[in-house]
Amino acid sequence: MDIVIVADYQELSEIAAGYVIAHMKKKPRTVLGLPTGSTPEGLYSRLVEEHRKGGLDFSTVTTFNLDEYLGLGPDHEQSYRHYMQKRLFGRININEEHTHIPDGLARDTDRCCRDYEHLIESVGGIDLQVLGIGRDGHIGFNEPGGSLASRTRVVVLAPETVEDNSRFFSSVDEVPQLAVSMGLGTISDARRCVLLACGEQKAEAIEQSVEGPVTAMVPASVLQMHPETTLIVDEAAASRLRRKNYYRAVQEKREHIAQIN
Ligand code: PGA
Repeated sequence: MDIVIVADYQELSEIAAGYVIAHMKKKPRTVLGLPTGSTPEGLYSRLVEEHRKGGLDFSTVTTFNLDEYLGLGPDHEQSYRHYMQKRLFGRININEEHTHIPDGLARDTDRCCRDYEHLIESVGGIDLQVLGIGRDGHIGFNEPGGSLASRTRVVVLAPETVEDNSRFFSSVDEVPQLAVSMGLGTISDARRCVLLACGEQKAEAIEQSVEGPVTAMVPASVLQMHPETTLIVDEAAASRLRRKNYYRAVQEKREHIAQIN
């Protein structure tokens, strides 16, 4: 795992956008795995800006979102399809047919999950998977106690997640309890992962994911087994890391090596 500690949310969003843009420039047919939530909003704004001002071209990009609430259709304001449309897809030149999000209204959910996996496979897999992290260490909607090898499936949201996400709904009772989520195995198949975390409320999850054991009790710890993962964290989210100074030193050396090359 590479740990990049940044000063603030703006820098986090800039650096995350840099990763996405670099992938798109290197491989115009890039397949992106995308998260929702508050954390990636700055990244999406930067990408939109780069598209508008710098002509960043999304016409050949394919995307797969991590998850969707079960029971919410694309017109529901809190559905992740709606979120993505509003913050990214509706503001760039991506072909809507190349944007994939699990169907929150699927009747045959088993089939929906199987098809999602096949679709990812059929385009050659995900090149760059961007991730957020929950307070409980979840990535996607993979809550503690699941399987480290899980695939796309229907999941039950943990009470902490329901509570955290209730800020987007008018009451906690309106938050769906079920979702379709890519599994930890699905996420681990991505060629590269970039996880974003900011704020003190994520500090414990980051500490456990980076410096704790690999365990299904901390789903993001599965990334320790992934050879190409970068965590971009602000000072607050990094505040509990015991080896923070070492990560900083590694980061400086990497920048130095990059300059030599
Ligand atoms: P947040 O959510 O970005 O809104 O904090 C992250 C997550 O739950 O994965």
